[in-house]
Amino acid sequence: MAPDFFRRRDMQSAVLRQPETEEERFEAFSALLSCPTYSIHGPADAKQEQRAAEESFPRRVAGTENCYHCGYHDELSFGGSSYLIQRPEGNVLVDVPRYNPKLLNRIKDMGGVKYMFLTHKDDVAAHYKWASALGAERIMHKAETNVQQRTNEVEHQIEGEGPWGLPDGSEDCEIIFTPGHAEAHCVLLYKPQKVLFSGDHLAADVVGEWTAKHEDMGDGFLGISRSFNCCSVEQQVESCLKLGAYDWLTLLPGHGRPGGVKDETERKQQLQLIKERETKRGLDRVPTDGNHQRHEADY
Ligand SMILES: [Fe+2]
Ligand SMILES: [Fe+2]
Repeated sequence: MAPDFFRRRDMQSAVLRQPETEEERFEAFSALLSCPTYSIHGPADAKQEQRAAEESFPRRVAGTENCYHCGYHDELSFGGSSYLIQRPEGNVLVDVPRYNPKLLNRIKDMGGVKYMFLTHKDDVAAHYKWASALGAERIMHKAETNVQQRTNEVEHQIEGEGPWGLPDGSEDCEIIFTPGHAEAHCVLLYKPQKVLFSGDHLAADVVGEWTAKHEDMGDGFLGISRSFNCCSVEQQVESCLKLGAYDWLTLLPGHGRPGGVKDETERKQQLQLIKERETKRGLDRVPTDGNHQRHEADY
């Protein structure tokens, strides 16, 4: 968030410059609220500005009518983003924000949550607190559940290779099986707005950081994280290619900034470029460490 002020430098986040205008301070306070490690600090006398930023979440994602970024990233989810789809049939929360009473009340004001969709085991945070406070039913692939994270308590444990609709039979949301990053990672397509919530499976690089780092690997502004691949790079690349056939234009990833493609041709071309790039780098490369802190830096 707020890339004009905070950017990744090597493996750390760094302050580029201090915000000056009212608008810039609002953006910086939004980043402060969402920083999973509480590393951003603001002046003590700016309570009103902080409150304005707090009340702005969940914040509608530009270019969508009813998809919201929840902010409040949780360290337990390695700083991953969570999103809310506001829909008449019942809202859907994609992955899990930091548990916060103010955010909880805002989400309740927006109609609460019917379903919580969990993409995979890394980004579940305190899902049980949210599910209990909202009376929401969780959906997750059975192979991603476990006792330690209490995901064995998930109400709807889907099995096999899908695709799946929502448990109430509504078909505007489609859950797609995208193994690779994790054994049974899944993504969610919200068809009416052509939005793909991609979790840790697929990310976008809209500010040129990733492209600059890998410029020898050719063009492309969609990518995968190899260092955090917990299962199979080859499988993750194949799962990326599979997404070409689904009708999405906006990409809302678990890490990094939103992205998108302009049409079907570009979507397929970008996914093919991932395959070419990753094949060059070696599909069988095994990740050397599981340090999720580097998650964003590797896209
Ligand atoms: Fe992950
Ligand atoms: Fe993640």
